Amino acid sequence: MRTGIWLVGARGSVAVTSVVGALALRAGLVEPTGCVTELPALRSPALPAYADLVFGGHDLVPTPVVKKAEALAAAGVLPARLVTALPDELAAVENEIRPVPTAERQADVIAALVADLTNFKQRNRLDRVVMVNVSATEPAPEPHPAYADLAALEQALSTEATVLPNSSAYAYAAFTAGCSYVDFTPSTGARLPALAELAAREGLPYAGHDGKTGETLVKSVLAPMFAMRNLRVRTWSGVNLLGGGDGANLAEPAANAAKAASKQRVLGETLGYVPQGNTRIEYVDDIGDFKTAWDLVTFSGFLGTAMRMEFTWHGCDSALAAPLVLDLARLTATAHRTGRGGPLGELAFFFKDPLGEGPHSLPEQWATLCAFVRQLDADAAQQGGAGDAGRSDPAQG
Ligand SMILES: NC(=O)c1ccc[n+]([C@@H]2O[C@H](COP(=O)([O-])OP(=O)(O)OC[C@H]3O[C@@H](n4cnc5c(N)ncnc54)[C@H](O)[C@@H]3O)[C@@H](O)[C@H]2O)c1
Repeated sequence: MRTGIWLVGARGSVAVTSVVGALALRAGLVEPTGCVTELPALRSPALPAYADLVFGGHDLVPTPVVKKAEALAAAGVLPARLVTALPDELAAVENEIRPVPTAERQADVIAALVADLTNFKQRNRLDRVVMVNVSATEPAPEPHPAYADLAALEQALSTEATVLPNSSAYAYAAFTAGCSYVDFTPSTGARLPALAELAAREGLPYAGHDGKTGETLVKSVLAPMFAMRNLRVRTWSGVNLLGGGDGANLAEPAANAAKAASKQRVLGETLGYVPQGNTRIEYVDDIGDFKTAWDLVTFSGFLGTAMRMEFTWHGCDSALAAPLVLDLARLTATAHRTGRGGPLGELAFFFKDPLGEGPHSLPEQWATLCAFVRQLDADAAQQGGAGDAGRSDPAQG
């Protein structure tokens, strides 16, 4: 199954780490540590092989992919030997990255995005394409009546200069071009009724949103423990210190608010009440892609006895995110191939603020994901033929 992965934000840290990782896996240069679809419970012949993945994307900045990869290697995010071992493969990806189209009217920008996606698919003879949003987090948009249904949205796009936030314009373009869509960021993306209608009309699956890679991942494991032991969480506060492009962007109050809201949601949903407290995000240039999160939880037990716990998480954000981007793209492409449309709640395991119906605690999300993959397997087998596991891509490999 020749599968295109179209990265929005293709020159950013998460995107370039994903690309280098996939190319290195294909070349047998690294182990798939961190890729959950490589675990025995989730390995599946229905998923496209790394050899079948072809990368392209959009970005606002012109930094060559190889330069970004070298910078990530210098910062300790990925091994420098991989960058020197893969020059032709990285050059092939570079050839598939397009600048973000500009026009007076957003409808024309969307048409240009659709043309880029369609050309990518045809040029590389791809069976299907998944768009993955790994671009900078946007502030939440002001409400607009056109978001409520597709006819109103199409009407607004034909008369108003700009209607949608960028992430939603990309999702609109993806669905129009027949591509599935994954939102790894907390931005609006496909989370508008009008876009849900478009995806349903086109029979396209989508997943999101906001990859669960660090502090929130730990929260989603700890919160069910407090709930199951009937311990009352009184407060849960966290401080996240991070640098890199994501950190710089999240220093903006509106983007920061979108991220912080996404991070706290797991508590309300797992505990059944929202304890006092907040997650603060602070930009620290010097720590680059390596994040430190510190959380303090106060809780009470039998007879009201007050207790507390603290944890500190030191994670390399892009190294945690990139394998999940590959997992999500492979799973969403297979969901598309097996005829699924609409929000993929079964992929809640990967997200801070999951779309669609799905459980909230990590163990339940894991069980749901395992059952989903087995169902994908069965459906793909019924369709006849697995995912062409050994086929390699002439353009990028
Ligand atoms: N790393 C993690 O663990 C993690 C977890 C969850 C979510 N995320 C999200 O993933 C996203 C990417 O993170 P990153 O560290 O790679 O950030 P980054 O700043 O390194 O990369 C973002 C890229 O997006 C590009 N961009 C910005 N606006 C764009 C637009 N309109 N169209 C196309 N490209 C655009 C930028 O030029 C940049 O190259 C962020 O939104 C972050 O919040 C990351």
